[in-house]
Amino acid sequence: MINSERLFDRLQALGEIGKTEQGGVTRFSFTTEDRDAKRLVSTFMKEAGLEIREDNAGNLIGKMEGEDSLAPAVIIGSHIDTVKQGGKYDGALGVLAGIEVAQTICEQAIKLTNTLEIIAFADEEGSRFNFGMIGSRAIAGVLDKNELSRQDVDGISIEQAMREVGLDPDKIDEVKRSPTSIKHYLELHIEQGKVLEHHDVPVGIVSGIAGPLWKSIRIIGESGHAGATPMNMRKDPVIAFAELASKIELEVSKYPDTVATIGKVIVEPGGVNVIPKEVEFTIDLRSIDENLRNKIEAAITTYTEEICEKHELEFYMSTLQRIEPVPCSKGIQQAIKESSQAIDLKTIPLLSGAGHDAMQFKKVCPIGMIFVRSRDGISHNPAEFSSAADCADGANLLYQTVLRSAQ
Ligand code: HGY
Ligand code: MN
Ligand code: MN
Repeated sequence: MINSERLFDRLQALGEIGKTEQGGVTRFSFTTEDRDAKRLVSTFMKEAGLEIREDNAGNLIGKMEGEDSLAPAVIIGSHIDTVKQGGKYDGALGVLAGIEVAQTICEQAIKLTNTLEIIAFADEEGSRFNFGMIGSRAIAGVLDKNELSRQDVDGISIEQAMREVGLDPDKIDEVKRSPTSIKHYLELHIEQGKVLEHHDVPVGIVSGIAGPLWKSIRIIGESGHAGATPMNMRKDPVIAFAELASKIELEVSKYPDTVATIGKVIVEPGGVNVIPKEVEFTIDLRSIDENLRNKIEAAITTYTEEICEKHELEFYMSTLQRIEPVPCSKGIQQAIKESSQAIDLKTIPLLSGAGHDAMQFKKVCPIGMIFVRSRDGISHNPAEFSSAADCADGANLLYQTVLRSAQ
């Protein structure tokens, strides 16, 4: 069994890095908080007896050599970067549980056949550059280097931010792993939803991961005097935005397992007595059904065209990131199921609405995910919480799954 106290203590310690007054955690990629977090996680990896390195994408990797150095590796991964004002379990639990599994294997002097690697991937969330999963894309060999020119709100590009923390993005291609070098990929993560709580089950086995599509839309009107401009003589982009937002909500609400979120809205110039010049906003559209997602995406474009035409406004639409939905490997799901039965742990299968680094490995190796119950289904929020007992159940299930699949 893993050492659940050590795991929970490490979770709390990591949660102190990037802590904000509101009690949340903000740790954007390639920032000092990110570096401090990597330094702390490196000490945990060292205590676990892992060989530590950071690759040129900023992935922090802890390795435990297997008996057969030619056999493909088993990878356990997740992330330690967070959203703005996030919680301390999203991503962190998966990395720290992986380290805990490795440390327990080391302490029990168990010999694995396959090498075991624990990876904290760089920038899973995409919070700083509106483009996520940089580290896992690089390892899976699916990162388009042109994306590294994306900038944050201060005009700093991803590659500049990488260089500032001592990474060499020119060598990012060397980060790619050949599919033959990886046996399978496992990720433990908090559910971030209410399904496990609803079924009163501590852990779940993920059957598939919904694909996130991120769009940005700019609607451009005419700024003017709020008092002197009659309503029928305005070109107000906020009115068009409001109409479009409610049409999107109505459309997407027709389909279960499909969600849309308008998370960022910027109004310029932003004066109380000024009719806005432009509105820029993001849409995060997700579904496990890619055809349906494409259909809704087309409907949103049509609505935008119709509404902007009606109000005589211009608009620009761009895609920030498009990740296909990914099924989890049936074989790995079965291995996790058998492991749960071996430790008499009740589990249920469930879909993941949230995106995860695991998605990037869909064309590389079989992937499997274990979910841990989230209290009230809350995540991306300072109130995010999973109990020590549930975290331990998840980590023990991960431990058993590694023992069964890497020996
Ligand atoms: O957006 C997501 O689903 C994840 O938190 N990166
Ligand atoms: Mn997240
Ligand atoms: Mn996450």
